[in-house]
Amino acid sequence: MKINRRQFLKTSSVFAGWSILPTGAWSNPLNSRFCTAHIGVGGMMGWRDLRSVASHPKVQIVGLADVDRTALEHERLLSYQDTARFADYREMLGTLGDKIDGVVITTPDHTHYTATLMAMNMGKAVYCQKPLTHEISEAYELAALAKEKNLVTQMGIQCHSADAYRMAVDFLQQGIIGKVSKVYAWSNKSWGDDGAAYAGSDPVPESLDWNLWLGSAATRPYLKDKYHSAKWRKTLDFGCGTLGDMGVHIIDTPYAALKLGQPHSVKVTCREPNQCSHPTKNIVEYEFPGTEYTTDKLQFTWFDGAYVPKAAEQVNPELEIETVKSQPVEPFHPDLGLEAGKTLPPQGAMFIGEDGQRMLLPHLSAPQLLPRSLLANVTKPQLKPANHYHQWVDAGMGNGTCSADFEYAAPLTTGVLLGVVGNRFPGQTLQWDGDAMRFTNNEDANKLVSRSYRTDY
Ligand SMILES: NC(=O)c1ccc[n+]([C@@H]2O[C@H](COP(=O)([O-])OP(=O)(O)OC[C@H]3O[C@@H](n4cnc5c(N)ncnc54)[C@H](O)[C@@H]3O)[C@@H](O)[C@H]2O)c1
Repeated sequence: MKINRRQFLKTSSVFAGWSILPTGAWSNPLNSRFCTAHIGVGGMMGWRDLRSVASHPKVQIVGLADVDRTALEHERLLSYQDTARFADYREMLGTLGDKIDGVVITTPDHTHYTATLMAMNMGKAVYCQKPLTHEISEAYELAALAKEKNLVTQMGIQCHSADAYRMAVDFLQQGIIGKVSKVYAWSNKSWGDDGAAYAGSDPVPESLDWNLWLGSAATRPYLKDKYHSAKWRKTLDFGCGTLGDMGVHIIDTPYAALKLGQPHSVKVTCREPNQCSHPTKNIVEYEFPGTEYTTDKLQFTWFDGAYVPKAAEQVNPELEIETVKSQPVEPFHPDLGLEAGKTLPPQGAMFIGEDGQRMLLPHLSAPQLLPRSLLANVTKPQLKPANHYHQWVDAGMGNGTCSADFEYAAPLTTGVLLGVVGNRFPGQTLQWDGDAMRFTNNEDANKLVSRSYRTDY
């Protein structure tokens, strides 16, 4: 079904005055289908989420929502011609109501919370992309609501179900490198912008409802190539930089394997804040309380952009070492040394055991034990096949559970977001009280734990 500009604007302008009644779990047992509605279908990931959910034999797609008409009219959606389309997800949820069993959310990060909250208040199962939320205050709130309403939830970290990552979790929990004392994780991606704060305005594309795209965020002029599409990751109010992009995937394995909760402290090395965008390169140092799989404390360091570490052997000795706030930023760390001729992967993690044994986990590749002789101690894990999307559909139909439900996603998302907030206070060690959900030594940082929500859109 095509919608024209007039219909699009009509649906966009309707405010969500729907009665929000819980519909209970899986409301369509008679036709044995699990009916899904998708919010944000235009990006690369929206399409992937749609295809992956639709590949489950019991799934029927009943609704598609996107604030950009070109997304809804894209030829790849031709096979869903009869599926209802909407500009405003609130109208979709309100109109389709009981016809929906599960909602898939693949919008920019700042919309995750509001869309998820509405779907959960209607009693729907939710598959929400990572990071679960944009604000620290939101993730545990959604986890508590899911628990209270007994809803099936899954955060969109599909790598969590990949064999390589599950094998790494198993190796670490077998104790092959002993209790873990340090973790280094990194991505060479760089979702930041070190230029001046954005200014000016550009004409809004005819196909885009900019007001709906902004959603509950503060209004501002549209700027070409700064926000829509995908570039919003660089902006403080909409995205979470590289940590919120690749960090959630790469930090997921340490969280799952070591059963990490919230860190005690975080310190970020990066440029001075510009009140607009995330820095292009960051070093984020966390200290976590110990768990059954770690030493008494765990030192956890994240690197991104041009701060990605190199194995000592890769570093040019002539290289001038950068200094930030009088501290040298080392381009390598002795814990990351590799055999001659080997290079560190561009994205991945290194786990350091208490006695110096190590495990390297290149992003989405099998874990490597250092020294290799540790392999002799490994009991090969028996991993059952896992499909992150189908797991959610099956759980929504009453079969099994989700491995990255919101209870799991809340501490991981909070940990990531603490590093994101830390980039506004470069060089400062922020002390975090996870029970009170506040920083204990910086009131300005506490102002960034939550935000206000625009409701007149
Ligand atoms: N799990 C992964 O591997 C992975 C990979 C890429 C992206 N993602 C996540 O997917 C999400 C989307 O990322 P992307 O790169 O596809 O972004 P994008 O900007 O390319 O696409 C977002 C889509 O959502 C639409 N949209 C924006 N606001 C909307 C709203 N209020 N209602 C309905 N539609 C709306 C946009 O028009 C666009 O079509 C992000 O949360 C991102 O972190 C996850």
